[in-house]
Amino acid sequence: MAYYSNTLVYIVYADVNMDTLRILVVSQKGGVGKSTLSANLSVWFSEKAFKSTVLLDLDPHGSSSTWVREARSSDVVTEHCVLDDFDARRWLIDCRNRVRRYLNKVEVLICDLTWTAAMDPEILYEFDLVVVPTSVSSIELSATTRFIETIDWVFNSKVGISPTLLLCPSRVSEAELATDPFSARDFSVPFMLLPPIYNDDSVRQLFKKQFVFDVNESLASQSYSRCAQSIQQAGTIHKQTARAVKVKFSDRRFLDTHNTKLSRYMAEKPGTRFSGRDAPIGKSEYSEGNTVAKGRKNLSGLSKILESVIGSK
Ligand SMILES: Nc1ncnc2c1ncn2[C@@H]1O[C@H](COP(=O)(O)OP(=O)(O)OP(=O)(O)O)[C@@H](O)[C@H]1O
Ligand SMILES: [Mg+2]
Repeated sequence: MAYYSNTLVYIVYADVNMDTLRILVVSQKGGVGKSTLSANLSVWFSEKAFKSTVLLDLDPHGSSSTWVREARSSDVVTEHCVLDDFDARRWLIDCRNRVRRYLNKVEVLICDLTWTAAMDPEILYEFDLVVVPTSVSSIELSATTRFIETIDWVFNSKVGISPTLLLCPSRVSEAELATDPFSARDFSVPFMLLPPIYNDDSVRQLFKKQFVFDVNESLASQSYSRCAQSIQQAGTIHKQTARAVKVKFSDRRFLDTHNTKLSRYMAEKPGTRFSGRDAPIGKSEYSEGNTVAKGRKNLSGLSKILESVIGSK
């Protein structure tokens, strides 16, 4: 079911041509703050960055969309839907259709999703930024590392434009950060590290009432603002980089198919690994992750794609 405020019905259906910034907030772990970030980030984009914004809530609990709808009024459009048909790639197709309906109609689309193994990583190609909130304890970081490994072929793909991965330390304490938890780890893909979101009990109290930015100068307000600004910057850089990448027509057709197995064959196996210290926000790993087209195989059509698939067996 979709919920629209009057103002935003106009925005959604206005005949404008906007290069929608598509942000996926996702992790396989419950309770890390995805919905809290999604709700507050959508209001930040709407009210601090003055962007027409849609929050697409794919979480069965619907907490981010409920928060935005039931707190004070805002101009964020919310849509909550539960996609649970995993047969015959229906989930990927349904999800892709939900996202694409908003393209070029709003400036920012934020999607809140809890990942399960039944989901198809190919959906990540629908997004510019993939934000993964994670706690920073050793156990949680190991779980995040494993989650990223299950989807890393998307970020390491040599075909087309991969999304940019942003890791967001979430619900952290100063003491945890002092141990520099990211630099000691290896990740199988390049990523940017967002400014941390601190654990702050006041955030819990705001649910369905207010947004973190409504409480001026609070620790939560500052950390969510810094994080949101960095996400916006990452979006700008990603869009610039993506515009510079020329995707050949044959590759575009390939990317638009629903053939995941083919995509996996085409994706290059991760060769290098990246650690947090190597990949702070704004540093070169970002561009490495988005200039994947440079080393792309020279494919001129479906027959060459098939040849390369068969040849790689
Ligand atoms: N920065 C924060 N400081 C303190 N508590 C927080 C913070 N962010 C979220 N929480 C609290 O943590 C709990 C889980 O947050 P949230 O629902 O956003 O996580 P989630 O990743 O969306 O979980 P789920 O996977 O169950 O949907 C909530 O009670 C929320 O109020
Ligand atoms: Mg949630």
